[in-house]
Amino acid sequence: MSPTQLPIVKPATGRLGILTPGMGAVSTTFMAGVIAAKKGAAKPIGSLTEMGYIRLGKRTEQRNSLIREFLPFARLEDIVFGGWDIYADNAFEAAANAKVLNHEHLAAVKDELSQVRPMSAVFDNAFVKNISGPNIKKGKNKLDLAEQLREDIRNFKKTNNCDRVVLVWCGSTEAYIKPGLPEHATIAAFEQACRDNSPNIAPSMLYTYAAIMEGAPYANGAPNLSVELPCLIKLAEDKGVPIAGSDFKTGQTLMKTIVAPGLKARLLGISGWYSTNILGNRDGEVLQDPDSFKSKEVSKLSVLETVLEPERYPDLYGDLHHLVKINFYRPRGDNKEGWDNIDIFGWMGYDMQIKINFLCRDSILAAPLVLDLAQFLDLSARSGFKGIQEWLSFYLKSPLVKQGLRPEHDLQVQKLKLENTLRYLGREELINHLGLTYYGHDEADASKIGN
Ligand SMILES: NC(=O)c1ccc[n+]([C@@H]2O[C@H](COP(=O)([O-])OP(=O)(O)OC[C@H]3O[C@@H](n4cnc5c(N)ncnc54)[C@H](O)[C@@H]3O)[C@@H](O)[C@H]2O)c1
Repeated sequence: MSPTQLPIVKPATGRLGILTPGMGAVSTTFMAGVIAAKKGAAKPIGSLTEMGYIRLGKRTEQRNSLIREFLPFARLEDIVFGGWDIYADNAFEAAANAKVLNHEHLAAVKDELSQVRPMSAVFDNAFVKNISGPNIKKGKNKLDLAEQLREDIRNFKKTNNCDRVVLVWCGSTEAYIKPGLPEHATIAAFEQACRDNSPNIAPSMLYTYAAIMEGAPYANGAPNLSVELPCLIKLAEDKGVPIAGSDFKTGQTLMKTIVAPGLKARLLGISGWYSTNILGNRDGEVLQDPDSFKSKEVSKLSVLETVLEPERYPDLYGDLHHLVKINFYRPRGDNKEGWDNIDIFGWMGYDMQIKINFLCRDSILAAPLVLDLAQFLDLSARSGFKGIQEWLSFYLKSPLVKQGLRPEHDLQVQKLKLENTLRYLGREELINHLGLTYYGHDEADASKIGN
């Protein structure tokens, strides 16, 4: 490819609106952290776009750049927040209810958060059973509701004088829907199903549809099926809109995708992996409903299977017993505690055990992911990328990939993919970690192998 065919990254001029369907614990912690960072009241810890560096060129060049200085991103000062929720609480009230942040941090961001009021939501109790609220749209059918969401996006953009908007789903986990239904195959079938109020069209799908139709990049932070519908992937490609999903990779699954690839790299066998956790936030309450839990379970279970490739390594992973439990336990609130017991075996089959006890904070882990996903998707859009953004798998438990491709779950491989995508966009040499040039070899020879 000649340099003239490389993507041209447009500058991040003007304001970027970040809209979240769902303004609960994750969304309001994200907003509060960005506002606090702008004011110097807290550091945006965990955000690559704010604090991450990227190596450029050979190790001997000693060139490292802050990612945000290497490529153009919206400045925090230029980010405007909005969202939808079934409750009418403003973002300050919702953050106070979520009890993630302490009084000092909340007080520091009270004025700004109080101004973020949720737009009325598209909601259906058939998909999220354990909650109900008054701030809900009415419409003659599901397509009409999607049109109302489109209008919300347009109005938000206009009222807040935004150049661009991105949506990141931070709503509750909806009930599991089997992939592959005819209503989800083509956009014509999808729109007809919306007109017919089909029970197979979930609210999250309507937000995704509305975003893509309005040219707004979209990421799905929950495991329910939305952005992965074939018709919506196609729509995103046709409309030139980048999409990413699904399910923020935080907590227990983050640990899994750090530990499992390491064990596999050393060809240590695994006979069992038991994960259980307790949490007491609203997310945990919603997940008590078996239909919502099923979405989460499928997302959590698929990770190990893909990392370990039992079909290739039947002796090591062919008989793996993998269990995932989530228990709603109110006293812990957002401070989830996870336990993992991993039964492994080594040389000649001798068994060993690993125990991980992670006392984490769910929304503290998820908040920087909302910022990074929004910033990177906006970068994608300004670079002319469209459809599935596999390079953002780094943030997601169930990474969206082109049909027929195996998703990559190994966190370090995902990070490399992300960094090389940034180098590609910044027209810097891709780094393959071969490192033989330092020892007198000509790496150019490597490109001749196989020719
Ligand atoms: N915190 C984490 O580490 C993490 C990790 C992975 C995924 N997630 C997912 O992120 C999502 C948000 O988590 P949370 O802790 O903020 O949950 P939360 O319950 O605090 O907030 C979700 C909010 O979404 C609202 N909502 C539900 N359906 C809606 C709809 N159709 N339209 C608009 N609003 C709607 C609810 O009223 C609620 O206020 C959940 O689906 C959760 O499973 C969280």
